[in-house]
Amino acid sequence: MTPSPQHPSRPQAAPVAHQWRATDLDAAAARRAERQVAGLFATSALLIVISVLVYGFVDWNTSIGLPVVGDVNAINFFMGLSFGLGVLCIGLGAIHWAKQLMSDIEVVEDRHDFPSEPQDRDQLAETFAAGVAESRFVSSGIMRRSLLGAMALFPIPLVVLLRDLGPSPSNGALTHTIWTAGTRLVTDVTYLPIKGDEVPIGGLINAVPETLRAIEEREGSLNARAKAVIVVVRIDERNIVAQQGGSASAPWDYKGVLAYSKVCTHVGCPISLYEQRTHHLLCPCHQSTFDLADAGKVVFGPAARNMPQLPITTDAEGYLIARSDFQVPVGPSFWERT
Ligand code: FES
Repeated sequence: MTPSPQHPSRPQAAPVAHQWRATDLDAAAARRAERQVAGLFATSALLIVISVLVYGFVDWNTSIGLPVVGDVNAINFFMGLSFGLGVLCIGLGAIHWAKQLMSDIEVVEDRHDFPSEPQDRDQLAETFAAGVAESRFVSSGIMRRSLLGAMALFPIPLVVLLRDLGPSPSNGALTHTIWTAGTRLVTDVTYLPIKGDEVPIGGLINAVPETLRAIEEREGSLNARAKAVIVVVRIDERNIVAQQGGSASAPWDYKGVLAYSKVCTHVGCPISLYEQRTHHLLCPCHQSTFDLADAGKVVFGPAARNMPQLPITTDAEGYLIARSDFQVPVGPSFWERT
């Protein structure tokens, strides 16, 4: 054993005897390995295209039964399977390439002082160039092109999946709810219209738009509900300090009956803990507190915005109706809110 120049007492490990591979000795075996690598990359490209086609053509409501886990959504299953196998094929192709075709000759490199000598750097550049040549990345067009093809297609499913992040903020999805002028307020769960004069002072009613039930049945989702839920309270008119809008001829309340969003403006927890003596609405998640007698102002906690008020009045039969949609976005703040 030769002592290391930097560490005289440390013995150097002897190089392991090199084992020549079939692809080193037989050109036909090397070409066969090239085709196998290219086949894996091409399979990856095919699987990635299939995953995009699954997203576009399989019905969202289709489910399939699987052993152990039971029913799963067909799009989730087939898209995940094809995309996952596509990524796996790229990995397998790269491993097969490295193990069968790239140089694997063992070398011993003594450590040296930094910085490297100019001739060492030149030698490194030559070694790198030789490594590139030995890797066959340049000389094997079929492997190079198939790898580049697979890698080029690889991000496409990720772009397609961006669609699933939710509706685009630019179409008003974050700034509007299903409340419209004339929509009746109905009790949550039972969908009964609410008479303005029958709301007791100090009481709180969880309410939704009367149009919600039909929308939920049509869409099969709770998306509309998530933004439209409100709480209705009645406060002695003499105790109301301020509201978020309205005028003497078109007040936003009905004889002290006020409607506010039920979605906390901190991170969106539903709220209905109401203290009638202080008129405070308390969020159970992080204790943000809103004063409903004073325009839904934040009086405590991490919420940064007042609780949005829904302008209401009554229809000809005395039932509570909305005057319009909310005038500000409901729920947690988002990046373009001003
Ligand atoms: S979600 Fe209401 S305080 Fe955090």
